[in-house]
Amino acid sequence: MITTKQFGKTADGKTVTAYTLHDGNNSMTVLDLGGTVQQILVPDKNGNLTDVILGYNTVEEYEQNGGYLGALIGRFGNRIGGGKFVIDGKEYQLYLNDRGNHLHGGKDGFNKKIWNAEIVGDKLKLSILSPDMEENYPGNLKVEVTYSFAGGEWKIEYRAVSDKKTCVNLTNHAYFNLDGEGKGDALDHLLQIDCDYITPTSPTMIPEGGYRAVKGTPFDFNAPKAIGRDIEADDNDLKQGGGYDHCHVLKNKCGEYIKYAEAVSPKTGIKMECFTDMPAVQFYAGNFLSQKGKSGFYAKRYGFCLETQAIPNNVNVPEYAEKGSSILEAGQEYHFTAAYRFSAK
Ligand code: BGC
Repeated sequence: MITTKQFGKTADGKTVTAYTLHDGNNSMTVLDLGGTVQQILVPDKNGNLTDVILGYNTVEEYEQNGGYLGALIGRFGNRIGGGKFVIDGKEYQLYLNDRGNHLHGGKDGFNKKIWNAEIVGDKLKLSILSPDMEENYPGNLKVEVTYSFAGGEWKIEYRAVSDKKTCVNLTNHAYFNLDGEGKGDALDHLLQIDCDYITPTSPTMIPEGGYRAVKGTPFDFNAPKAIGRDIEADDNDLKQGGGYDHCHVLKNKCGEYIKYAEAVSPKTGIKMECFTDMPAVQFYAGNFLSQKGKSGFYAKRYGFCLETQAIPNNVNVPEYAEKGSSILEAGQEYHFTAAYRFSAK
């Protein structure tokens, strides 16, 4: 069952609606503003409902604060070096909003849009049309993202199609804290990621080629490890990110749906299992959080993100495009899935 209520109004007077997807004890609330996941309530090991999503109580805070809390990200999630890419010999220059690079769709990314929302049975279908050359990306891009929430599992289906050859890399930027949002940092959470390689970056966080094996480094999460254990280690990649903020290359073939990670809170016993058919995930430990949230202040590392995507900057690095290219042909369907499944014991 999905219920709706008015969440508030944008600065320019548009109504923002909240859609709540109910699933027994669990529920998930989504805003049409940014397709933002504003709340996920799941029972902890004692049956107490816990909100595991960082977010805000007002539209104004979503409009004014950075950090993309819970939002859909597009057209290109993560970074493109110099904001440039070339399609069929033509260079496109995107907006540079991150130290000379393009991040998360640019000036007015999909996180700022009010999406059309349609309730289809137990699913919420969000859609937008991003016009040709919006943010300087070619092609009229029709985007459809479907959220469902059943059996404690939040599932996201991303679809897009363009009338011109373009590039697309969609993700969701939810910050999780399995102790409950606003309850402190997530550094004691045990995280496991099935991943042998990250992509090393330039000082401005651009993967420019090559892979770095995680074995014997702070990036090795193959066995469950507290997020905070090695986060301050003396490691150049780690320092450049201000902590974990890196692309972990997954072991699947692009398009093959796998479980790639799992996180557990030792306090609440809430476990989150993560699935996708995308080729990579950005594990971001919330290093830059510093804002007032729903139930308190969110300081550095009060939440973490697992943003499924193609390898950042793959539009400029053929070796990365081989693992899953973000170039989309005219008329070709972009279709990926990601899911986060919650349980507790
Ligand atoms: C990026 C971070 C950035 C954060 C918020 C993450 O996806 O990797 O570097 O600070 O988004 O913008």
